[in-house]
Amino acid sequence: MPHIYVKDFNKSDFKNGAEFGDVRFHHFGKSLKSDKNSILFVEFRDKRFFLELKERDERVLIKSEKSNRPSPNYPVHRAIDSFSQMMNLHTLSSNLNLKESQHIAKDSYLKDIDFFRDMKLSGRVEVEIGFGSGRHILHRAEESPDTTFIGIEIHKPSIEQALKQIEIRRLKNLYILDFDARHFLEILPSNSLSTIYVHFPVPWDKKPHRRIIQPIFLKEAKRVLELNGVLELRTDSENYFQSALQLFTDEPLLKMELLKNISIDVQSKYESRWLKMEKNIYNFRITNLEDSAEKRDFYISTISEVKGDSPVKLLGETILKENWFINFKDIYQIDNSSYILSIVAGSYSYPENIFLLLNGNKIEYLIKKPLELEVNVEIDKYLRELL
Ligand SMILES: C[S@@+](CC[C@H](N)C(=O)[O-])C[C@H]1O[C@@H](n2cnc3c(N)ncnc32)[C@H](O)[C@@H]1O
Repeated sequence: MPHIYVKDFNKSDFKNGAEFGDVRFHHFGKSLKSDKNSILFVEFRDKRFFLELKERDERVLIKSEKSNRPSPNYPVHRAIDSFSQMMNLHTLSSNLNLKESQHIAKDSYLKDIDFFRDMKLSGRVEVEIGFGSGRHILHRAEESPDTTFIGIEIHKPSIEQALKQIEIRRLKNLYILDFDARHFLEILPSNSLSTIYVHFPVPWDKKPHRRIIQPIFLKEAKRVLELNGVLELRTDSENYFQSALQLFTDEPLLKMELLKNISIDVQSKYESRWLKMEKNIYNFRITNLEDSAEKRDFYISTISEVKGDSPVKLLGETILKENWFINFKDIYQIDNSSYILSIVAGSYSYPENIFLLLNGNKIEYLIKKPLELEVNVEIDKYLRELL
């Protein structure tokens, strides 16, 4: 991780908004949790991130704040070096490397969630949830080069294997996402997918609430599927079959086709395994009959007006609700009326690190907004009322 140690220096020499070359240093905040720590909000080209400063004895360690570190990390090297030059710091030790060419990322079909947030989906788009060995999605991508495919998995070796196959087969239409599929659909625009495949999901017989096919998933699947778009579920589990059947039967505006033991043109690894064991395979084909309204407006994107009371009393506080929580990890004071709030918040299965800039009675997200999930809309509203 890029860092330097410098001799202690006078932090009040720093002016918010200072620039050095193409690096811009916006806000410097002192931690109210530990007066030896500070953070500095930095902008370099299209990257925005924090540097952390930690005083130890007569020295100061300067490094990046880890929850939002850019990758590749060349901007961090540049920001630390520029800050040190701008402030005339006395370097004691450093591992900075300012050769940019060594930091250029290899183009990869492995994308992070922000790629799909910003991506304007167009044409035919198909998603496979929990692709495992990848046999099915690789086959589909190969046979339909004009369709965009998105494969979602959380098992790292399966992801590595699929990425290797994308390279070997020279596929240009398959993106891989390492993410919990239960939250993926919520961030997509309405009517944007043609097909969602869920083949042999983990049955979770002892913890049915962890299943992919849940009421919230079906609601979001119908919203993101275009009119006549299809959700295809294949399962060998009697329990999964029963609970999915109940869920699909109760849901209006869909057509359900259920077939037993049909084979499709590619056999996934799990399908082969169950066929050898002569298990029944249930195939649901759910057609969406609803043209959904556009996704609700996500209020989080705007700068909001708040009361602007001092947030200091919230330091270390945790708010626990049934579906979400907020923890005020640290508060950094910039001046008498501005603060940076470092928060961990979200659903219990998908918490995020969030930074809020509270400036008088204005509040905004720094670096990036939380994902557009229902719980985050609730959290956003709660924070605005609280602050
Ligand atoms: C039983 S395997 C089936 C794999 C493949 N579809 C097949 O038919 O061979 C289930 C897969 O779903 C993945 N999975 C489970 N929960 C997931 C989640 N919440 N998000 C994404 N993938 C998930 C697992 O890592 C596993 O690879």
